[in-house]
Amino acid sequence: MALLGEIRLPGDKSISHRALMFTALSDGLSRLENLNPGADVVTTQRALINCGIHIEEKHGVIHVQGGGLRPFKQPDLGLDCGNSGTTARLMMGLLAAHPIHVQFTGDQSLSKRPMDRVFRPLQQMGANISANKRTYLPVMLSGRELWALDYQLPYASAQVKSAILLAGLHAKGQTTVKSPAFSRDHTEQMLKAMGARIKVKGREVTVHQLTKPLKPIDFVIPGDFSAAAFFIAAALLVPDSDVILRGVGINPTRTAFLKAVKEMGGKLTVANKAKHSGEAIADIRIRASQLKGIQVYPEQIPNLIDELPLIALLATQAEGETVVTGAEELRVKESDRIAAIVTNLSAWGAKIFERPDGFHVEGPTPLKGGKVKTYHDHRIAMTLGVAGLISKSPATLDDPDCVNVSYPGFFDELRGLIS
Ligand code: S3P
Repeated sequence: MALLGEIRLPGDKSISHRALMFTALSDGLSRLENLNPGADVVTTQRALINCGIHIEEKHGVIHVQGGGLRPFKQPDLGLDCGNSGTTARLMMGLLAAHPIHVQFTGDQSLSKRPMDRVFRPLQQMGANISANKRTYLPVMLSGRELWALDYQLPYASAQVKSAILLAGLHAKGQTTVKSPAFSRDHTEQMLKAMGARIKVKGREVTVHQLTKPLKPIDFVIPGDFSAAAFFIAAALLVPDSDVILRGVGINPTRTAFLKAVKEMGGKLTVANKAKHSGEAIADIRIRASQLKGIQVYPEQIPNLIDELPLIALLATQAEGETVVTGAEELRVKESDRIAAIVTNLSAWGAKIFERPDGFHVEGPTPLKGGKVKTYHDHRIAMTLGVAGLISKSPATLDDPDCVNVSYPGFFDELRGLIS
Protein backbone atom coordinates (compact mmCIF):
# COMPACT_ATOMS: atom_id res chain seq x y z
CA MET A 1 0.00 0.00 0.00
CA ALA A 2 1.09 3.57 -0.78
CA LEU A 3 -0.64 6.94 -0.79
CA LEU A 4 -0.53 8.44 -4.28
CA GLY A 5 -2.23 11.38 -5.98
CA GLU A 6 -3.24 14.94 -5.26
CA ILE A 7 -6.00 16.69 -3.35
CA ARG A 8 -7.37 20.13 -2.43
CA LEU A 9 -8.16 20.82 1.19
CA PRO A 10 -11.29 22.43 2.61
CA GLY A 11 -10.94 26.13 3.44
CA ASP A 12 -8.99 27.14 6.51
CA LYS A 13 -11.18 26.97 9.61
CA SER A 14 -9.61 29.92 11.46
CA ILE A 15 -9.83 32.15 8.38
CA SER A 16 -13.42 31.04 7.64
CA HIS A 17 -14.69 32.06 11.10
CA ARG A 18 -12.99 35.42 10.76
CA ALA A 19 -14.17 36.04 7.19
CA LEU A 20 -17.81 35.56 8.26
CA MET A 21 -17.50 37.76 11.35
CA PHE A 22 -15.50 40.60 9.81
CA THR A 23 -17.55 40.89 6.63
CA ALA A 24 -20.60 41.41 8.88
CA LEU A 25 -18.99 44.76 9.83
CA SER A 26 -18.57 45.85 6.19
CA ASP A 27 -20.84 48.13 4.19
CA GLY A 28 -21.54 45.86 1.23
CA LEU A 29 -21.68 42.35 -0.16
CA SER A 30 -18.71 40.00 0.35
CA ARG A 31 -18.19 36.73 -1.51
CA LEU A 32 -16.37 33.94 0.30
CA GLU A 33 -15.22 30.92 -1.71
CA ASN A 34 -13.98 27.64 -0.23
CA LEU A 35 -15.39 28.39 3.22
CA ASN A 36 -14.64 25.55 5.64
CA PRO A 37 -17.62 23.14 5.52
CA GLY A 38 -17.24 21.85 9.08
CA ALA A 39 -19.75 22.15 11.90
CA ASP A 40 -17.70 24.80 13.76
CA VAL A 41 -17.91 27.30 10.92
CA VAL A 42 -21.62 26.52 10.43
CA THR A 43 -21.98 27.41 14.13
CA THR A 44 -20.44 30.84 13.53
CA GLN A 45 -22.65 31.33 10.49
CA ARG A 46 -25.79 30.48 12.52
CA ALA A 47 -24.74 32.75 15.38
CA LEU A 48 -24.32 35.68 12.98
CA ILE A 49 -27.64 34.97 11.26
CA ASN A 50 -29.22 34.84 14.72
CA CYS A 51 -27.79 38.34 15.30
CA GLY A 52 -29.44 39.67 12.14
CA ILE A 53 -26.71 39.23 9.51
CA HIS A 54 -27.87 38.18 6.07
CA ILE A 55 -25.80 35.22 4.80
CA GLU A 56 -26.68 32.97 1.89
CA GLU A 57 -25.02 30.39 -0.30
CA LYS A 58 -25.17 30.72 -4.10
CA HIS A 59 -23.50 28.01 -6.20
CA GLY A 60 -21.11 27.09 -3.40
CA VAL A 61 -20.08 30.70 -2.71
CA ILE A 62 -21.09 32.30 0.59
CA HIS A 63 -22.52 35.81 0.27
CA VAL A 64 -22.43 37.98 3.38
CA GLN A 65 -24.35 41.25 3.38
CA GLY A 66 -22.48 43.49 5.80
CA GLY A 67 -24.51 45.74 8.07
CA GLY A 68 -21.97 48.54 8.58
CA LEU A 69 -20.73 49.82 11.94
CA ARG A 70 -23.79 48.68 13.95
CA PRO A 71 -24.96 45.52 12.17
CA PHE A 72 -26.27 43.35 15.03
CA LYS A 73 -29.88 42.91 16.17
CA GLN A 74 -31.08 41.32 19.38
CA PRO A 75 -31.01 37.52 18.80
CA ASP A 76 -34.14 35.48 19.69
CA LEU A 77 -32.22 32.85 21.57
CA GLY A 78 -28.96 32.35 23.37
CA LEU A 79 -25.96 31.83 21.12
CA ASP A 80 -25.11 28.14 20.95
CA CYS A 81 -21.40 27.85 20.12
CA GLY A 82 -21.46 24.05 19.89
CA ASN A 83 -17.91 22.63 20.04
CA SER A 84 -16.29 25.80 18.72
CA GLY A 85 -13.90 27.77 20.93
CA THR A 86 -13.22 30.22 18.10
CA THR A 87 -16.94 31.01 17.74
CA ALA A 88 -17.44 31.58 21.46
CA ARG A 89 -14.31 33.63 22.11
CA LEU A 90 -14.28 35.79 18.97
CA MET A 91 -18.04 36.45 19.11
CA MET A 92 -17.67 37.71 22.70
CA GLY A 93 -15.24 40.36 21.44
CA LEU A 94 -17.26 41.08 18.31
CA LEU A 95 -20.53 41.69 20.19
CA ALA A 96 -19.24 43.31 23.40
CA ALA A 97 -19.90 46.91 22.29
CA HIS A 98 -23.28 46.32 20.62
CA PRO A 99 -26.58 46.99 22.38
CA ILE A 100 -27.75 43.36 22.66
CA HIS A 101 -28.11 40.79 25.43
CA VAL A 102 -26.81 37.29 24.74
CA GLN A 103 -26.08 34.11 26.56
CA PHE A 104 -23.21 32.08 25.10
CA THR A 105 -23.59 28.33 25.55
CA GLY A 106 -21.76 25.30 24.16
CA ASP A 107 -21.50 21.52 24.20
CA GLN A 108 -19.95 19.50 27.02
CA SER A 109 -16.38 19.93 25.79
CA LEU A 110 -16.69 23.70 25.20
CA SER A 111 -18.34 24.11 28.61
CA LYS A 112 -15.13 22.82 30.21
CA ARG A 113 -12.83 25.28 28.41
CA PRO A 114 -11.70 28.51 30.07
CA MET A 115 -13.59 31.63 28.97
CA ASP A 116 -12.30 34.03 31.63
CA ARG A 117 -9.18 34.51 29.49
CA VAL A 118 -11.49 36.45 27.16
CA PHE A 119 -14.07 38.01 29.43
CA ARG A 120 -11.57 39.38 31.99
CA PRO A 121 -9.84 41.72 29.49
CA LEU A 122 -13.23 42.59 27.98
CA GLN A 123 -14.42 43.57 31.49
CA GLN A 124 -11.38 45.84 31.71
CA MET A 125 -12.66 47.54 28.55
CA GLY A 126 -15.95 48.20 30.33
CA ALA A 127 -17.89 45.23 28.95
CA ASN A 128 -20.78 43.87 30.98
CA ILE A 129 -19.86 40.20 30.67
CA SER A 130 -19.65 37.44 33.26
CA ALA A 131 -19.99 33.70 33.74
CA ASN A 132 -22.33 31.66 35.92
CA LYS A 133 -19.64 29.23 36.86
CA ARG A 134 -16.62 31.47 37.36
CA THR A 135 -14.62 30.67 34.24
CA TYR A 136 -16.92 28.54 32.10
CA LEU A 137 -19.93 28.83 29.82
CA PRO A 138 -22.66 29.93 29.99
CA VAL A 139 -21.41 33.49 29.67
CA MET A 140 -23.81 36.43 29.76
CA LEU A 141 -23.11 39.58 27.79
CA SER A 142 -25.01 42.88 27.70
CA GLY A 143 -23.28 45.02 25.13
CA ARG A 144 -22.39 48.59 26.01
CA GLU A 145 -19.87 51.33 25.25
CA LEU A 146 -16.22 50.25 25.60
CA TRP A 147 -12.96 52.05 26.11
CA ALA A 148 -9.58 51.02 24.69
CA LEU A 149 -7.18 48.72 26.50
CA ASP A 150 -3.44 48.09 26.56
CA TYR A 151 -3.20 44.40 27.36
CA GLN A 152 -0.31 42.01 27.92
CA LEU A 153 -1.44 38.45 27.17
CA PRO A 154 -0.10 35.89 29.66
CA TYR A 155 0.14 33.24 26.88
CA ALA A 156 0.18 33.35 23.09
CA SER A 157 -3.45 32.84 22.07
CA ALA A 158 -4.81 33.96 18.71
CA GLN A 159 -8.37 33.57 19.95
CA VAL A 160 -7.91 35.88 22.92
CA LYS A 161 -5.83 38.36 20.90
CA SER A 162 -8.54 38.44 18.22
CA ALA A 163 -11.39 38.86 20.72
CA ILE A 164 -9.72 41.92 22.25
CA LEU A 165 -8.89 43.42 18.84
CA LEU A 166 -12.50 42.92 17.70
CA ALA A 167 -13.80 44.66 20.81
CA GLY A 168 -11.17 47.35 20.14
CA LEU A 169 -12.79 48.12 16.76
CA HIS A 170 -15.67 49.66 18.74
CA ALA A 171 -13.78 50.99 21.76
CA LYS A 172 -12.88 54.65 22.25
CA GLY A 173 -9.18 55.12 21.44
CA GLN A 174 -6.48 52.64 20.43
CA THR A 175 -6.41 49.08 21.74
CA THR A 176 -3.06 47.28 21.98
CA VAL A 177 -2.48 43.56 22.57
CA LYS A 178 1.03 42.30 23.37
CA SER A 179 1.79 38.58 23.10
CA PRO A 180 4.65 36.65 24.68
CA ALA A 181 5.16 34.76 21.38
CA PHE A 182 3.82 35.01 17.82
CA SER A 183 0.40 33.41 17.36
CA ARG A 184 -1.58 33.05 14.11
CA ASP A 185 -2.16 36.49 12.57
CA HIS A 186 -5.20 35.94 10.30
CA THR A 187 -7.16 38.62 12.19
CA GLU A 188 -4.46 41.22 11.58
CA GLN A 189 -4.08 40.28 7.87
CA MET A 190 -7.80 40.32 7.15
CA LEU A 191 -8.63 43.50 9.08
CA LYS A 192 -5.82 45.25 7.20
CA ALA A 193 -7.12 43.98 3.84
CA MET A 194 -10.59 45.29 4.79
CA GLY A 195 -9.34 48.81 5.59
CA ALA A 196 -9.14 48.82 9.41
CA ARG A 197 -6.42 50.99 10.97
CA ILE A 198 -4.25 48.25 12.43
CA LYS A 199 -0.53 48.31 13.15
CA VAL A 200 1.70 45.33 13.88
CA LYS A 201 5.05 45.94 15.59
CA GLY A 202 6.67 42.62 16.40
CA ARG A 203 4.45 40.85 18.92
CA GLU A 204 2.39 43.98 19.54
CA VAL A 205 -0.82 44.78 17.62
CA THR A 206 -2.72 48.08 17.82
CA VAL A 207 -6.16 48.70 16.39
CA HIS A 208 -8.03 52.02 16.19
CA GLN A 209 -11.74 52.46 16.76
CA LEU A 210 -13.59 52.15 13.45
CA THR A 211 -14.93 55.44 12.18
CA LYS A 212 -16.37 53.87 9.03
CA PRO A 213 -17.42 50.32 8.14
CA LEU A 214 -14.90 47.79 6.86
CA LYS A 215 -14.63 47.28 3.10
CA PRO A 216 -16.37 44.17 1.73
CA ILE A 217 -14.06 41.52 0.24
CA ASP A 218 -14.06 38.72 -2.30
CA PHE A 219 -11.92 36.04 -0.78
CA VAL A 220 -10.94 32.54 -1.84
CA ILE A 221 -10.16 30.93 1.53
CA PRO A 222 -6.83 29.04 1.40
CA GLY A 223 -6.76 25.29 1.99
CA ASP A 224 -6.55 24.54 5.72
CA PHE A 225 -2.94 23.94 6.75
CA SER A 226 -4.02 22.07 9.88
CA ALA A 227 -6.09 19.71 7.71
CA ALA A 228 -3.18 19.38 5.26
CA ALA A 229 -0.96 18.29 8.15
CA PHE A 230 -2.83 14.97 8.45
CA PHE A 231 -2.04 14.14 4.82
CA ILE A 232 1.55 15.31 5.24
CA ALA A 233 1.95 12.91 8.17
CA ALA A 234 0.18 10.08 6.35
CA ALA A 235 2.34 10.42 3.22
CA LEU A 236 5.54 10.58 5.28
CA LEU A 237 4.63 7.40 7.17
CA VAL A 238 3.17 5.10 4.51
CA PRO A 239 6.05 3.57 2.48
CA ASP A 240 6.40 4.64 -1.18
CA SER A 241 3.85 7.45 -0.86
CA ASP A 242 3.97 10.54 -3.06
CA VAL A 243 1.20 13.09 -2.52
CA ILE A 244 0.60 16.68 -3.66
CA LEU A 245 -1.64 19.06 -1.70
CA ARG A 246 -2.85 22.01 -3.80
CA GLY A 247 -3.58 25.59 -2.66
CA VAL A 248 -2.66 25.16 0.99
CA GLY A 249 -2.40 28.20 3.27
CA ILE A 250 1.24 28.61 4.31
CA ASN A 251 0.97 31.66 6.55
CA PRO A 252 4.26 31.55 8.53
CA THR A 253 2.40 31.83 11.85
CA ARG A 254 0.78 28.48 11.06
CA THR A 255 3.49 26.38 9.46
CA ALA A 256 6.07 25.54 12.12
CA PHE A 257 4.98 21.93 11.50
CA LEU A 258 6.63 22.07 8.05
CA LYS A 259 9.92 23.14 9.63
CA ALA A 260 9.67 20.48 12.33
CA VAL A 261 8.94 17.76 9.78
CA LYS A 262 11.85 18.85 7.60
CA GLU A 263 14.11 18.72 10.65
CA MET A 264 12.85 15.17 11.23
CA GLY A 265 14.08 14.32 7.74
CA GLY A 266 10.74 14.56 5.93
CA LYS A 267 10.90 14.93 2.15
CA LEU A 268 8.78 18.00 1.46
CA THR A 269 8.75 20.53 -1.34
CA VAL A 270 6.74 23.75 -1.44
CA ALA A 271 6.00 25.18 -4.90
CA ASN A 272 3.73 27.61 -6.80
CA LYS A 273 3.63 30.21 -4.02
CA ALA A 274 0.98 32.95 -4.37
CA LYS A 275 -0.82 35.48 -2.16
CA HIS A 276 -4.49 36.37 -1.76
CA SER A 277 -5.96 38.98 0.65
CA GLY A 278 -2.70 38.95 2.58
CA GLU A 279 -2.60 35.14 2.95
CA ALA A 280 0.14 33.04 1.33
CA ILE A 281 -0.74 29.76 -0.42
CA ALA A 282 1.32 27.06 -2.13
CA ASP A 283 1.33 23.44 -3.29
CA ILE A 284 3.07 20.96 -1.00
CA ARG A 285 4.53 17.68 -2.22
CA ILE A 286 5.33 14.96 0.33
CA ARG A 287 7.19 11.71 -0.14
CA ALA A 288 7.53 8.80 2.29
CA SER A 289 10.58 9.39 4.50
CA GLN A 290 12.81 7.90 7.17
CA LEU A 291 12.38 10.15 10.20
CA LYS A 292 14.51 11.04 13.19
CA GLY A 293 13.55 12.48 16.59
CA ILE A 294 13.65 16.24 17.33
CA GLN A 295 13.23 18.75 20.15
CA VAL A 296 10.23 21.09 19.91
CA TYR A 297 10.81 24.22 22.01
CA PRO A 298 8.23 26.44 23.76
CA GLU A 299 8.65 29.36 21.33
CA GLN A 300 7.65 27.13 18.39
CA ILE A 301 4.48 25.84 20.08
CA PRO A 302 1.91 28.53 19.12
CA ASN A 303 2.77 28.04 15.42
CA LEU A 304 2.13 24.28 15.45
CA ILE A 305 -0.24 23.96 18.38
CA ASP A 306 -2.94 22.06 16.43
CA GLU A 307 -0.36 19.76 14.80
CA LEU A 308 1.24 18.50 18.03
CA PRO A 309 -0.76 15.24 18.13
CA LEU A 310 0.76 14.51 14.69
CA ILE A 311 4.27 15.29 15.96
CA ALA A 312 3.63 12.64 18.63
CA LEU A 313 2.56 10.11 16.00
CA LEU A 314 5.52 10.86 13.69
CA ALA A 315 7.86 10.59 16.68
CA THR A 316 6.70 7.01 17.35
CA GLN A 317 8.11 6.11 13.91
CA ALA A 318 11.25 8.26 14.13
CA GLU A 319 14.68 7.05 15.14
CA GLY A 320 15.65 8.43 18.56
CA GLU A 321 13.98 10.73 21.05
CA THR A 322 11.46 13.52 20.47
CA VAL A 323 10.71 15.98 23.25
CA VAL A 324 7.92 18.58 23.23
CA THR A 325 7.89 21.22 25.98
CA GLY A 326 5.97 24.41 26.72
CA ALA A 327 2.75 22.98 25.29
CA GLU A 328 0.50 23.18 28.38
CA GLU A 329 -2.14 24.99 26.26
CA LEU A 330 -2.79 21.61 24.62
CA ARG A 331 -4.54 20.55 27.82
CA VAL A 332 -7.38 23.05 27.28
CA LYS A 333 -8.26 22.30 23.66
CA GLU A 334 -11.35 20.30 22.57
CA SER A 335 -9.91 17.62 24.89
CA ASP A 336 -6.78 17.40 27.02
CA ARG A 337 -4.72 16.55 23.95
CA ILE A 338 -1.58 15.62 25.90
CA ALA A 339 -3.47 12.97 27.87
CA ALA A 340 -5.52 11.91 24.82
CA ILE A 341 -2.58 11.29 22.49
CA VAL A 342 -0.39 9.65 25.14
CA THR A 343 -3.23 7.33 26.26
CA ASN A 344 -4.03 6.18 22.72
CA LEU A 345 -0.49 5.77 21.41
CA SER A 346 0.73 4.00 24.57
CA ALA A 347 -2.19 1.58 24.33
CA TRP A 348 -0.95 0.80 20.80
CA GLY A 349 2.57 0.03 22.10
CA ALA A 350 4.37 3.35 21.59
CA LYS A 351 6.96 4.56 24.07
CA ILE A 352 5.36 7.93 24.76
CA PHE A 353 5.37 9.64 28.13
CA GLU A 354 3.33 12.52 29.47
CA ARG A 355 4.95 15.68 30.88
CA PRO A 356 2.95 18.47 32.52
CA ASP A 357 3.70 20.69 29.50
CA GLY A 358 4.10 18.18 26.67
CA PHE A 359 5.39 14.68 26.05
CA HIS A 360 8.44 12.72 25.06
CA VAL A 361 8.66 9.78 22.71
CA GLU A 362 11.28 7.10 22.07
CA GLY A 363 11.10 5.66 18.60
CA PRO A 364 10.70 3.79 16.45
CA THR A 365 8.12 1.31 17.75
CA PRO A 366 5.55 -0.69 15.80
CA LEU A 367 1.92 0.30 16.50
CA LYS A 368 -0.62 -2.42 17.31
CA GLY A 369 -3.76 -0.55 16.28
CA GLY A 370 -7.26 -1.39 17.51
CA LYS A 371 -9.54 0.68 19.72
CA VAL A 372 -9.25 4.48 19.81
CA LYS A 373 -10.72 6.79 22.42
CA THR A 374 -11.30 10.00 20.50
CA TYR A 375 -12.58 12.03 23.46
CA HIS A 376 -14.90 13.43 20.74
CA ASP A 377 -11.95 15.54 19.58
CA HIS A 378 -11.60 15.88 15.79
CA ARG A 379 -7.81 16.23 15.80
CA ILE A 380 -7.34 13.16 18.00
CA ALA A 381 -9.68 11.17 15.72
CA MET A 382 -7.85 12.22 12.54
CA THR A 383 -4.40 11.61 14.04
CA LEU A 384 -5.32 8.06 15.07
CA GLY A 385 -7.06 7.56 11.73
CA VAL A 386 -3.70 8.30 10.07
CA ALA A 387 -1.92 6.04 12.57
CA GLY A 388 -4.29 3.24 11.52
CA LEU A 389 -2.69 3.26 8.06
CA ILE A 390 0.56 1.88 9.49
CA SER A 391 -0.68 -0.13 12.49
CA LYS A 392 -0.95 -3.92 12.60
CA SER A 393 -4.72 -3.93 13.08
CA PRO A 394 -6.88 -1.11 11.74
CA ALA A 395 -8.00 1.76 13.98
CA THR A 396 -11.50 1.49 15.44
CA LEU A 397 -12.65 4.92 16.57
CA ASP A 398 -15.35 5.30 19.23
CA ASP A 399 -16.64 8.48 17.52
CA PRO A 400 -15.39 8.84 13.92
CA ASP A 401 -18.06 11.47 13.21
CA CYS A 402 -16.37 14.01 15.48
CA VAL A 403 -14.13 14.89 12.49
CA ASN A 404 -17.17 16.72 11.05
CA VAL A 405 -16.29 19.68 13.26
CA SER A 406 -13.52 20.68 10.85
CA TYR A 407 -13.37 18.15 8.01
CA PRO A 408 -16.48 16.25 6.90
CA GLY A 409 -15.32 13.57 4.43
CA PHE A 410 -11.81 13.33 5.89
CA PHE A 411 -11.71 9.52 5.96
CA ASP A 412 -13.05 9.22 2.39
CA GLU A 413 -10.40 11.65 1.17
CA LEU A 414 -7.68 9.67 2.97
CA ARG A 415 -8.97 6.33 1.59
CA GLY A 416 -9.10 7.88 -1.89
CA LEU A 417 -5.31 8.26 -1.89
CA ILE A 418 -4.65 4.59 -1.11
CA SER A 419 -3.39 2.53 -4.04
C1 S3P B 1 -7.41 29.36 16.77
C2 S3P B 1 -6.35 29.56 17.61
C3 S3P B 1 -5.70 28.47 18.36
C4 S3P B 1 -6.07 27.10 17.80
C5 S3P B 1 -7.53 26.96 17.49
C6 S3P B 1 -7.99 28.03 16.53
C7 S3P B 1 -8.00 30.53 16.09
O1 S3P B 1 -6.08 28.53 19.71
O2 S3P B 1 -5.66 26.08 18.68
O3 S3P B 1 -7.77 25.68 16.92
O4 S3P B 1 -8.76 30.36 15.13
O5 S3P B 1 -7.69 31.66 16.50
P1 S3P B 1 -5.47 29.60 20.73
O6 S3P B 1 -6.10 30.92 20.51
O7 S3P B 1 -5.79 29.07 22.07
O8 S3P B 1 -4.01 29.67 20.43
